Amino acid sequence: MSEKANFSNIYKFYDLINTILTLGFDKSWRGKAINSLTGTSVLDLGSGTGASYKQLLKYETTAIDPDKKMLELNPFENKVIGSAENLPFKDNSFDNVFCSFVWRNASDTNKALDEVYRVLKPGGRFVLLDMTRPKNSFLRILHKIGTFKILHLIGLITFNLKEYRFLYKSLDFYPQPENHLKKDNFIDLKIKRMGLFDFVYLAVFTK
Ligand SMILES: C[S@@+](CC[C@H](N)C(=O)[O-])C[C@H]1O[C@@H](n2cnc3c(N)ncnc32)[C@H](O)[C@@H]1O
Repeated sequence: MSEKANFSNIYKFYDLINTILTLGFDKSWRGKAINSLTGTSVLDLGSGTGASYKQLLKYETTAIDPDKKMLELNPFENKVIGSAENLPFKDNSFDNVFCSFVWRNASDTNKALDEVYRVLKPGGRFVLLDMTRPKNSFLRILHKIGTFKILHLIGLITFNLKEYRFLYKSLDFYPQPENHLKKDNFIDLKIKRMGLFDFVYLAVFTK
């Protein structure tokens, strides 16, 4: 991907916009994803402003994000600046890597998946939640029109057209998760769809 979103430009609006875009369902989708966690330790990968903070309270969580400004608003105690493609942790460090609404921003998902595998303990889980396009071609067109209009409108209102255009395009960066996500070295991978038109997916990898 040559284009990148600069989340520093939109960090103040990020949580609000996410709630609008997901029609307020983001919390319940995160909750469903968190139900798949195991053990006690979690790496919240791409933690941003810490939207998962309250839902992850019972876990020993380390938050990591490349964006300093997003992390400044993040309430987790253990915070690290870093990216999915180069995780600054030892092998077999966490019971879980939790990653919500981040994966389509990663510049190299193969490298990121290798890194996630490396830092997970044996039996650990990689719980991946993200948005994509609906599988049904008619619903996909409706979804494209809807997200185009909403994201461009928000971009104009907040004077951050470039960032919101990136968010719109990012929904098409990768093929559908059922075709794109591979088990690789993991012993199990389950993918399920959620949300209106099934435009959200939850993938649970087990090491
Ligand atoms: C859409 S926000 C999601 C924040 C939070 N996880 C949530 O559920 O709302 C995307 C976050 O991914 C971070 N990000 C972008 N590229 C990343 C990468 N390569 N590795 C880790 N995080 C990344 C951004 O800085 C941003 O904070």
